[in-house]
Amino acid sequence: MSIKKLQDAELASMLKSSIRLKSRDGVEAPWLNLNDEDMEWWRDAKLGFFVHWGLYSILGRGEWAMFNEKIPADEYAKLAGRFNPQKWNPEQWASLAQEAGMRYSVMVTRHHDGFALWDSPGSYGRFDSMHAAAKRDFVKDYTEAFRKAGLRIGLYYSPMDWRFPGYFKPKELADNAALMKEQAYEQIRELTTRYGTIDILWYDGSWLAHSGTDADAAWFWEPVKLNETVRSSQPKCVINPRSGWIGDFQCDEGPHEITGNIIPIDWEKCFTIAYHWSYDPKERVMPLEDIIKIMIDCFVRGGNVLLNVAPDPDGEIPASQVERLKQIGEFMKKNGEAIYGTRSGPLEPVDHIYGMTRKGNHLYLHVQNMPAFDGMVLPALPQKIVRCQLLDGSAVPFEQNEQGISIKVPKEKWEPLDTVIKLVVEAGG
Ligand code: GLC
Repeated sequence: MSIKKLQDAELASMLKSSIRLKSRDGVEAPWLNLNDEDMEWWRDAKLGFFVHWGLYSILGRGEWAMFNEKIPADEYAKLAGRFNPQKWNPEQWASLAQEAGMRYSVMVTRHHDGFALWDSPGSYGRFDSMHAAAKRDFVKDYTEAFRKAGLRIGLYYSPMDWRFPGYFKPKELADNAALMKEQAYEQIRELTTRYGTIDILWYDGSWLAHSGTDADAAWFWEPVKLNETVRSSQPKCVINPRSGWIGDFQCDEGPHEITGNIIPIDWEKCFTIAYHWSYDPKERVMPLEDIIKIMIDCFVRGGNVLLNVAPDPDGEIPASQVERLKQIGEFMKKNGEAIYGTRSGPLEPVDHIYGMTRKGNHLYLHVQNMPAFDGMVLPALPQKIVRCQLLDGSAVPFEQNEQGISIKVPKEKWEPLDTVIKLVVEAGG
């Protein structure tokens, strides 16, 4: 009976942030925001590695299994006795992320089920990996391995915890809800003081009783106070908006398409290449074309992309996902010049046909539909184009006048997903 309703909560969780992207939502506290200079590396990095892995991976039915299936907390807690990954190899994850062209990563350190993947004295009931069969601090291993590989380190943390009845009735069960809040403050302190420099803090789930927005719950969490403590130990950490404070960038979630004009704020789209966020043995993987299409749609509109993988309970990323990451890596290698370190524009994208990125006096057209692009006249640009070429260096004929620009890419050079045309324009023009 209630299964449908419960699944609605999971769906609502997914939808809330896409709505948010259109209008920035959250408590303002400008003194907490990073300046342009400190945001630069994040804007340049473009692509990140996201990973959902925890006790729910053993069940293999999604990270919402505890809630959706109404598994009592003490029953669910028994999974900790079985959590003992035999193939935990964060160095391998890091090298795979690198091979995929990812420059940063965000690991789920604690999801809504409350199980912490580190040695966490602040955890209510010591529900952590040090007290699970594994007896390991996975956050420590992860941060060390990824940092060593040269990737920026991000931590996902869910302030809410289904184990607390007070989460569902924060006013009626205020004492219990206060314990949950205390846990969140303590665990955020642990995560931001024990593992060196944390480049990204990625909150999720500050809404209360699964309704309203994260910002609506700011009366409870006091996100400004929480993030002031974060800033005292991690002054340059890039923080997402899901604590209820507006954060340093906005989130868009799920694999729906991104269309329309450039979005002139810092934003990031996250989605899973595995359909579920966490391991499912029946898993299919998203087609490469669909992933790349969304990636380009984001890059040409000023967004970053955080791609999620779902390792199995042993810590191994399934072969189908590995294969996809490698294909994404090939794409990034081939087209990276037109992606990393770029900003969107100056021309506005035309949905499903082309969009633009730029770096210095290089403008890059990302053409997603060559048959539709061929013969189009692009809007005029103020700068004079001095050269037009493909990324392999081959010259492309073009014409520029006050009416606009026409470009004729030889048919044999058309690419199915992204034909990148580089326009070298006069400096300072
Ligand atoms: C959705 C899911 C949640 C997941 C999150 C990642 O909100 O419900 O489980 O962690 O997406 O952004």
